[in-house]
Amino acid sequence: MITQPLFTPTKMGPFKLEHRVVMAPLTRMRSSEGNVPNELMAEYYAQRATQGGLIIAEATPVSPYGFGYAGSPGIFTQAQVAGWRKVVDAVHKKGGLIFLQLWHVGRQSHPLLQPGNIDPVAPSAIRAEGEAYAKTGPVAFGMPRALALAEIPDVVESFRRGAELAKEAGFDGVEIHGANGYLPDQFLQDGTNTRTDIYGGPIENRARFLLEITQAAISVWGEGRVGVRLSPSSSYGSMHDSDPKATFGYVAQQLDKMGLGYLHVVEPRIKGNETIDERAEPVAARYLRTLFKGPIIAAGGFQGTSAQALISEGSADLVAFGRAFIANPDLVRRLRDDLALNTYDRDTFYGGDAAGYTDYPFTGS
Ligand code: FNR
Repeated sequence: MITQPLFTPTKMGPFKLEHRVVMAPLTRMRSSEGNVPNELMAEYYAQRATQGGLIIAEATPVSPYGFGYAGSPGIFTQAQVAGWRKVVDAVHKKGGLIFLQLWHVGRQSHPLLQPGNIDPVAPSAIRAEGEAYAKTGPVAFGMPRALALAEIPDVVESFRRGAELAKEAGFDGVEIHGANGYLPDQFLQDGTNTRTDIYGGPIENRARFLLEITQAAISVWGEGRVGVRLSPSSSYGSMHDSDPKATFGYVAQQLDKMGLGYLHVVEPRIKGNETIDERAEPVAARYLRTLFKGPIIAAGGFQGTSAQALISEGSADLVAFGRAFIANPDLVRRLRDDLALNTYDRDTFYGGDAAGYTDYPFTGS
């Protein structure tokens, strides 16, 4: 049998991965009261865990001010740590690895999702188009308030604390959510950052927040157990930058010096949770590969064949799958044996119960 590139082992930080199929972070809004992970979530992740395979658990706010989707789990209380421990233990029992994606949505929120119904925060007071998910249903993003310079160290500290609590919960590492127009991305791109202090202006300043929170996570975990996710050129969350190549090129070069476990890159053919150009080439991984020398996880619109091709050409080391993992708990086996995939049901992506979550069939069931 021909060796399939996706199914050869590889190294990432201190880990030896047995294959290169990664479960992408996927917000599913099924946590319990208090944003606490529960047994249902443990079952869902365990279904998708494989021996020596990596799961990146869903985006998880590091502070009560970081929510844009009601029902997301958090990582800032002890009850949440205890809930996550159940998830982590269930994945480890199957021989899998699991990282937690650390999140702050910034302006992609609404007072209904904020403690005391205050305005969400952002680098600058510029509103995004789109909707947050409150308990009562979708609501247009609120007008954000620009963070004062003196407040930023506290936000950085909330990421450090989230990283620490993730360690307490037993995760194998953490991923900084620097993609999809959330707070770190809002600082990075000049369409959302018009600050005139040390966090705004030239790219060296706009990248400061992302690099500081990454460093904060490294201070807890060591470098090989911290990854960063970026989505260069994605317009999700009304994002834009006047020179994405320079912006993301600079960030990749800086992250390269930090010795990360991996850089996780979402291809611009994806806008958030949907494909906008199926046939677009995976340009982001190809470009950033020239600047970042550590492991790269590519994501966004991959199928078995295109994932194998990207790994063969050397533009990525691993490939993350999102929607295919939602619908196929045994995706790794299906890709390896070239079996047909279940189709996903978008109506049950966000919130609800076991339906569309843990009831997708395994092959042969
Ligand atoms: C996502 N995506 C996403 N990305 C992220 O960084 N953190 C998250 O929590 C989520 N949540 C999420 C929920 C749902 C329901 C979907 C469909 C997507 C984006 C996801 O990780 C991935 O980048 C895209 O789905 C594109 O990959 P696929 O689906 O084409 O393999």
